[in-house]
Amino acid sequence: LPHQPLLGRRALVTSGPTREAIDPVRYISNHSSGRQGHAIAAALARLGADVTLVSGPVSQLDPAGVRVVKVESADQMLSACQAALPVDVAICAAAVADWKLARLAGSKLKKSPGAPPPSLELVPNPDILATLSAAGNSRPRLVVGFAAETEEVVANAVAKRARKGCDWILANDVSPASGTFGGENNTIHLVTADGVEDWPTQSKDAVAARLAARIAQHLTAI
Ligand code: PMT
Repeated sequence: LPHQPLLGRRALVTSGPTREAIDPVRYISNHSSGRQGHAIAAALARLGADVTLVSGPVSQLDPAGVRVVKVESADQMLSACQAALPVDVAICAAAVADWKLARLAGSKLKKSPGAPPPSLELVPNPDILATLSAAGNSRPRLVVGFAAETEEVVANAVAKRARKGCDWILANDVSPASGTFGGENNTIHLVTADGVEDWPTQSKDAVAARLAARIAQHLTAI
């Protein structure tokens, strides 16, 4: 392969958590640091791709040579992704909140003496990976998702790949003992139409480099 096999190709990467507002000062979120998604954006850019990184709130530095779009909620992440189309490849590494508040309080919820705590009604967020996978004429040629699992990692990832309609899924164990959320390393099982490949535990940068090389190989072969 040439030194920059992705020159002239467009890529979209999502990274980090989303934040779902409860009221003007409170939100629901998760522990994604953006390390894995940002490393993937950087690796694709190093191979010459024109990369848009749509990121939730993280403390990672913007990767060199990448267009970074900063968002908070899942709804905003979806709009930013749709605005980045068309692309050759999309990689969804963000930990998108599955639910948002049914109603957003316009002012700070008050604690009144004797009153019970408020109950929060949740509704589903849009699924960005499934939406990109079903985007008809603007579907990226290659759509890659992650599966964050705490048990039956590979079996759940195989089912998730079918349900979401993406081409590849990178399954990772996110149980607390794994240290995957926020940590430096990751252990990936790559699920494709051809089967499952177990990758060794390696740094998130190494995972990103291996994935980017694999994407380059795939896009130049078709
Ligand atoms: O950010 P780090 O600290 O480096 O941690 C990396 C990571 C663990 C967050 C990352 O490797 C990872 O697994 N990302 C996906 C997290 C996730 O939300 O997984 P899921 O199994 O719930 O979702 C499956 C796929 O659908 C993912 O590609 C996700 O981005 C996507 N999704 C999910 C829900 C939704 N509403 N929209 C989506 O696009």
